[in-house]
Amino acid sequence: MNEIKIFTPATIANVSCGFDVLGMALDTIGDEMLIRKVPEKGVKITKIIGQNLPLETHKNVAGVSALALLAQIDCEFGFEIEIDKRIKPGSGIGSSAASSAGVVWAINELLGKPFNSSDLVRFAMEGERLATGVAHADNVAPALFGGFTLVRSYEPLDIISLPTPKDLYATILHPQIEIKTADAREILKTTVSLKKAIKQWGNVGGLISGLYEEDYDLIGRSLEDFIIEPIRSILIPAFDTVKQQSINSGALGGGISGSGPSIFALSKGEETALKVADGMRSVYEKIDIDYEIHVSKINKKGIRILKY
Ligand code: HSE
Repeated sequence: MNEIKIFTPATIANVSCGFDVLGMALDTIGDEMLIRKVPEKGVKITKIIGQNLPLETHKNVAGVSALALLAQIDCEFGFEIEIDKRIKPGSGIGSSAASSAGVVWAINELLGKPFNSSDLVRFAMEGERLATGVAHADNVAPALFGGFTLVRSYEPLDIISLPTPKDLYATILHPQIEIKTADAREILKTTVSLKKAIKQWGNVGGLISGLYEEDYDLIGRSLEDFIIEPIRSILIPAFDTVKQQSINSGALGGGISGSGPSIFALSKGEETALKVADGMRSVYEKIDIDYEIHVSKINKKGIRILKY
């Protein structure tokens, strides 16, 4: 196998209550990447279509993640990368993570899988470090593992795959404004009151239990964020109205996707998820900001091969 074409999914990090620890992969939104073995050692990004991103290996998250992997192995050849970038940077649905996770997954395939998933998360986190200043794993882990993931611990890295209830769908409203994750982290407080922490970890436990039990009401009740959302939501036009309208349309709950500006809602069944999309649309139709809406099943597989 000399080249591989893959689909690498968009992801929703935090899933409301799990800042930097919870994430989930989407099915219908993602990038395509082509990774090719070449005789010259190293990593070269030869083409990016869709978005204006740097081709220089050290400035591109895919390049940096690939180099992190190659630093751990003696490789007699190198790799060329082509990216069809469909997820806009600064959208809140894991644009940088899709590139970082995709490239390390594909190179690992081309090398005959010398690395395990946990190694791949670690390499892809270097791309996140470049993009956001912090090597968080809550987007790259679900992109690589699929479904829902929990980063139980960063040091040592311990990632847990969680079950995906079969009727769960996500609706995502993406206002066409850019919020840089680094900026959205900058405004956060560095301390949390015990009162808020108690509510938050109750919800993390509740959400995880809801996923195991396929208890949709419990999932809905647990989708509440007392720590991050009150601060970041002011950056997102009509956030509260969109969230309320989603719930009025039948969603279980929702919140900010990653660091925003995308807003997500989870629903039981595709029909409800489509109604939630209509509800979100009815809010954004009245304001002068372009937007996109996606409805997606949860992606249980993560990255997939499109062509060898
Ligand atoms: N957990 C990260 C944050 C995800 O919310 O800053 C960024 O997409």
